[in-house]
Amino acid sequence: MRMRSKYAIILFFVAALVIIEKENNIISRVSDKFTVKLPQLDFLGLNNTISARALSENDSLLVGTSSAIWQLLKAQRNCTSPQGMTNRDGTKDLMGRKHLILMATTRTGSSFVGEFFNQNSDIFYLFEPLWHVERTVTFEPGGANAVASSIVYRDVVQQLMLCDLYALENFLIPVPDRHITGFLFRRGSSKSLCEWPVCTPAKRRVSERFPCRVQRCGPLNMTLAVESCLQKQHVAMKTVRIRQLEFLRPLVEDLRINLKVIQLVRDPRAVLASRMVAFPGKYDAWKKWANKGEVPDDEEVGKLRGNCESLRASAQLGISQPPWLKDRYMLMRYEDIALEPMKKALEMYQFAGLPITPEVKKWIYVNTQTSKGSDNVYSTHKNSSAQFEKWRLALPFKIAAVVQKVCEPVMKLFGYKLVNDATTLANRSASLLENRNF
Ligand SMILES: *[C@@H]1O[C@H](CO)[C@@H](O)[C@H](O)[C@H]1NC(C)=O
Ligand SMILES: *[C@@H]1O[C@H](CO)[C@@H](O)[C@H](O)[C@H]1NC(C)=O
Ligand SMILES: *[C@@H]1O[C@H](CO)[C@@H](O)[C@H](O)[C@H]1NC(C)=O
Ligand SMILES: *[C@@H]1O[C@H](CO)[C@@H](O)[C@H](O)[C@H]1NC(C)=O
Ligand SMILES: *[C@@H]1O[C@H](CO)[C@@H](O)[C@H](O)[C@H]1NC(C)=O
Ligand SMILES: *[C@@H]1O[C@H](CO)[C@@H](O)[C@H](O)[C@H]1NC(C)=O
Repeated sequence: MRMRSKYAIILFFVAALVIIEKENNIISRVSDKFTVKLPQLDFLGLNNTISARALSENDSLLVGTSSAIWQLLKAQRNCTSPQGMTNRDGTKDLMGRKHLILMATTRTGSSFVGEFFNQNSDIFYLFEPLWHVERTVTFEPGGANAVASSIVYRDVVQQLMLCDLYALENFLIPVPDRHITGFLFRRGSSKSLCEWPVCTPAKRRVSERFPCRVQRCGPLNMTLAVESCLQKQHVAMKTVRIRQLEFLRPLVEDLRINLKVIQLVRDPRAVLASRMVAFPGKYDAWKKWANKGEVPDDEEVGKLRGNCESLRASAQLGISQPPWLKDRYMLMRYEDIALEPMKKALEMYQFAGLPITPEVKKWIYVNTQTSKGSDNVYSTHKNSSAQFEKWRLALPFKIAAVVQKVCEPVMKLFGYKLVNDATTLANRSASLLENRNF
């Protein structure tokens, strides 16, 4: 069964390539070189994996791959941006426009910190739009494929920064009808998408998986979203799916985009503890090891090492401030924000070259001083200074020690102190933070 559907899909894929080849001859050069897995993509009712040949390591071919995937999706779905959208002259009305990427990994407080920008009504804020890309186009694990996915992510981010939200339509399931979608991931977490004029109040209850919180809105009209994006002064986005800072270089160098990148990091021990709670399925093995006092297996430890290394590589590059990144990169520790949210918010705004607004200040005040006692793991309502160290009581020392061993270089770089015993780990009077100015 599996084999049969695989063949059917390969056949379909080849057919699709032939069609697209007419439009884009780059395909003919890359088609024997890439392996793309498209799980969950329900082309023609077919399931899952498209797997063809081996992906080349060569970046110039990968750029073609990204474009090929894009073309493939476009040909399939027939959604194109209106003429002029993507090649719009962005210099005329966009003087002073700033673009901000909050680059994070999961469980580093990025939803919370993202609110600092979401609450600003001069900013068009998007919450994790690459979620759709990941769902639609994922790649077989391994070096070259990770590179390919990064390039697709980057290309989408680039379009989104230019307010071409139509670019995202290629990755939405179901395919939007006349630029209308009822399913944009965490729409409710983007104020701009939930307020006038993008929100057209719904008369009846509409089924939306991620509804707006403030008011009930009709399905999202992407054209209105694009217009709102163009009308707002600035654009910001938070994402946990851009892994390597260097991949953003073409965006930094794109003259239409005045990009600032804030890399948000958190103590890897805390991140692991938080993931064990938030992603039970994925971290079952870790939980079992924690409960039984066992040592994790090599595969999971290897993944952890990979994550820490990738964080370190990005941060190291950012801190070293190569000429192309000058004044465009900031490293922020979540713990510092939790301890002094207003001070750190001001620093981030200053770095971004934006004035902080009273509404942002108010949000920060309300959401960091009071404990709303929410059990929602994605909640941003937290007494931040009380919450951020809770993990120290929950994470067994044995597991913390594994993280320390594997992630020591990045912990040193970020100024997270290692502990030698369980008592110190659980002793919240003993700070794990070194003072750092990055
Ligand atoms: C699609 O996948 C599901 C679950 O993997 C399976 O039950 C179903 O039979 C598949 N359908 C087709 C058309 O292959
Ligand atoms: C990629 O291919 C191009 C042309 O074939 C070549 O010039 C370039 O050096 C290659 N890059 C890498 C990293 O191999
Ligand atoms: C794609 O869209 C265009 C313009 O909306 C339309 O003319 C064309 O028939 C569509 N093609 C397919 C295959 O649906
Ligand atoms: C979406 O908004 C645009 C711009 O206001 C409008 O022209 C279009 O008719 C709307 N689409 C639908 C289906 O209502
Ligand atoms: C928030 O946490 C701090 C530090 O633990 C504590 O001093 C403060 O009273 C807490 N505020 C509320 C409203 O719980
Ligand atoms: C906890 O840490 C503080 C500060 O380092 C230290 O003074 C205290 O003795 C520690 N308490 C225990 C029980 O180890």
